[in-house]
Formats: sequence, structure tokens, C-alpha cells
Amino acid sequence: MAGSQSGLLSRVALATSAAILASAVGANLYAHGNVTTQAVDTSKLPAIGDALLTKNPYRGNADAIRIGQSAYGQNCARCHGLDAISGGIAPDLRYLDKGEAGDEWYMERYHKGAVRDGKVYMPAMGDTLGQKAGWAIRSWLDTKHQE
Ligand code: HEC
Repeated sequence: MAGSQSGLLSRVALATSAAILASAVGANLYAHGNVTTQAVDTSKLPAIGDALLTKNPYRGNADAIRIGQSAYGQNCARCHGLDAISGGIAPDLRYLDKGEAGDEWYMERYHKGAVRDGKVYMPAMGDTLGQKAGWAIRSWLDTKHQE
């Protein structure tokens, strides 16, 4: 009797920890609601105003590429992977269309994030990090592009 009871208890404990694990993994994969962003110093980059651009004004700009690399590491790498190599949690951004062809889609996601059925797959970044940082990251991503 005592034996079967403790057997039951350990099964319950096992089931409970499995449920906790599943919800923790689920939270990591699907509910990226609470993400803090790291401010990016873009004061060295030419001013581009507030109106949202659809083409990267910093393409090929060495300062932008350097700033973008570090901004990516602080704000995007935890989901999209170190050095832009995705581990599978989020799309691999090296395969975005390069240059003008991919700018608009990139910025759409950067500004609005990705939300479906009330779940935040990717938080919106534009309001907190700003357009300059977004284009700086894009400039760096272009240097990592893969066909
Ligand atoms: C909390 C995790 C997370 C963070 C942080 C994050 N993303 Fe994402 N991102 C995602 C996920 C998940 C998707 C796929 C969304 C979907 O399935 O609709 C995505 C999609 C994208 C896409 C579209 C990719 C495609 O192939 O269509 C772009 C562009 C993008 N992210 C850029 C960024 C940039 C730039 C940053 C940093 C400033 C960033 N993301 C930070 C999770 C994240």
C-alpha cells in the first residue's frame, strides 16, 4: 500500500514537472512578450528623420555595419541566433532578400513584430530602438547574406 502510494506520488510529481517543462519551453518558443531591448547609440549615423523609409539609407556604411552588428547581438541574437546563424527558434535572417528587395519586409517585421492569434512571436522593435538602429542592423545583415 505504502509502496503503490509513493509510486503514485512520484508519477504525479513526474507529470507535474513535465507540464512545467512543457509550459516553460512553450513560453520560450511562442510567447516572447516580455523582452527588454538594449538602447543603441546611433548618434554617429546621418539623421534620417522620423518618416519611415522603405529603403536602407545606410547600406554599405561602415559605421552603420559596426553599430548594427552590436545592436543585433544585444537585441536579436537571443532568438535569431549568434552572428545571424539561427538555431531554429526564429527564422535565419541571412536568407532575407538582400538589398532593396528585402528592405521593406525587414522593416515591416522590425517595426511591428509578429503577432498571430494573440501570441507574440516577435515583439515590435521599432518604437523602442528607433529607425536608425533598424537600418544599421539591416546594413550588417546584408553583409551576412546567404543565397
Ligand atoms: C523574442 C524573439 C525574437 C526577437 C528578440 C527578435 N525576433 Fe525577429 N522574429 C522572431 C520570430 C519567432 C519570427 C517569425 C515570426 C513569424 O513566424 O511570423 C521573427 C521574424 C523576423 C523577421 C522576418 C523573417 C522572415 O524570414 O520573414 C525579421 C526581418 C526579423 N524577425 C527581424 C528581427 C530583428 C532585426 C530583431 C532585433 C532587432 C529581431 N527580429 C528580434 C523572433 C524574434
